[in-house]
Amino acid sequence: MGSAFYVTTPIYYVNSEAHVGTAYTTIAADVLARYNRACGRRVFFLTGSDEHGMKMVRAAKDKGLTPEQLVDTLVPKYVELWKHLNISNDNFIRTTDPLHARTVQALFGKLIEKGDIYKGTYRGWYCTPCERYVPQGAATPPPCPVCNRPAEHLEEENYFFRMSKYRDRLLALFEERKDFVRPESRRNEVLNRVREGLEDVSVTRSTFEWGVRMPGDEKHVVWVWFDALINYLSGAGYPHDMAKFAERWPADVHLIAKDILWFHSVIWPSMLMAADIEPPRSIFAHGWWTMNAAKISKSAGNCIYPMDITAQFGVDALRFFLLREVPFGGDGDFTHSAFLGRFNNDLGNDLGNLVLRTITMAEKYFGGIAPAPGVSGTQDDALVNTAKNLEDSVAGHLKNLQFSHALEAIWQLVRAANRYVEECKPWVLAKNEAEKPRLATVIYNLLQSTRICAAYLSPFMPGTCEEILWQIGYEKPVSVRLPLDATWGQYQSGLRLRKGRPLFPRVEA
Ligand code: MSP
Repeated sequence: MGSAFYVTTPIYYVNSEAHVGTAYTTIAADVLARYNRACGRRVFFLTGSDEHGMKMVRAAKDKGLTPEQLVDTLVPKYVELWKHLNISNDNFIRTTDPLHARTVQALFGKLIEKGDIYKGTYRGWYCTPCERYVPQGAATPPPCPVCNRPAEHLEEENYFFRMSKYRDRLLALFEERKDFVRPESRRNEVLNRVREGLEDVSVTRSTFEWGVRMPGDEKHVVWVWFDALINYLSGAGYPHDMAKFAERWPADVHLIAKDILWFHSVIWPSMLMAADIEPPRSIFAHGWWTMNAAKISKSAGNCIYPMDITAQFGVDALRFFLLREVPFGGDGDFTHSAFLGRFNNDLGNDLGNLVLRTITMAEKYFGGIAPAPGVSGTQDDALVNTAKNLEDSVAGHLKNLQFSHALEAIWQLVRAANRYVEECKPWVLAKNEAEKPRLATVIYNLLQSTRICAAYLSPFMPGTCEEILWQIGYEKPVSVRLPLDATWGQYQSGLRLRKGRPLFPRVEA
């Protein structure tokens, strides 16, 4: 079961256009998908859109549209943005897809059969912008713990899911699999809440119609979260393509932000247990991108749009910045100066410079053909060791979803290669014919270091790395195999180099 690497993003509410926060999770998932594909694994990468619920009804009304019109206008924009950002998802699931609706009804039906659904009345608080139930607090109305808006009072006939029944099994799952929820601090938060007790949850709504009809009681639509979580099954083939589904499920990792962890780590596994389906292997909750410490969000109106950044800096600079700047799991403030610093220093001065100077010297000293190595020197050891250590460190960091650490490790090689140039001084070697064999080694080592960096960077910056590999002699489309293509000594001498434009020309503040 589940031999493919299956990675998901949340399915996003398509009430307005995607911003950098939304792009963040999607890019992170894309890096994992691309890395695993490069390592030779079969991969299934799912993203999509969450289209039902009162939030969408209201968003449509505000724009003078029907919910159908709203989602049909916005979904193509998401699809287009993911294409623009070079996202390599294998499927895009829409909750308005009839195939998804059937899966929701099938699962709901299973829970009814199990005796885990019962009729009742929900009397309490709800935050429609966040589509979450809000507990009664000291204040009335209580503020939503995520967005701080006052919650609305609901009193309506609902069906409830007997989630409390699964508390012990959930606790056992958390105990057995310490990395079921990552990072650990978040795991502990959830675990403590579950230990305090687990209530049943209302899973239908009867006051509006924009949703999947509940099987057996057409007056109700399925609660938007119950509907949405099931995308991870319907999008992977359940139950319409069980052979594919068996290859994919359980998901290796659901990537989400911290605000939707409860839904994923408690409600979702309980639903799966009730339906006799294995829980996912893990859930990783990252932090928030903020602006002046406030969460970047559609409703707060402080959005930064990916295309505004990529128009000036390119797609890969955004992909790089988001994953390099903040350790995955923590929050981070998105500032122009931090972005510019990474762009000019890491990408321009370090990586761009390495590629440009290496090819320029190879052209000048070897007529643009990659030389075969000649004589080794004492300066080589540090470079070789850094390159050889990279395989383990990148693999280790990506296993833990520590993208920034993986990039930091790759940058150790980028910087070591730039240092190597300063230490070996090819321009001095070039003056002495007797040093030609040594010069050949230096240039060869720089070319192969460049190749190794590009191979490991390709999941993060696919477009740039294809360009780098093309410049050092490979044909497009370049497909990277890891770790083979990043093995010291694998670079082929004799390749014809193609000097290109500087990859990241400096941008002044
Ligand atoms: N539709 C639900 C998810 C259902 S999944 C079964 C939802 N949608 S959302 O449009 O609000 O997207 C939430 C997700 O977008 C977060 O989990 C996170 O992945 C991403 N982000 C939205 N804003 C973000 C930041 N400011 N920072 C980081 N990630 C952000 O919740």
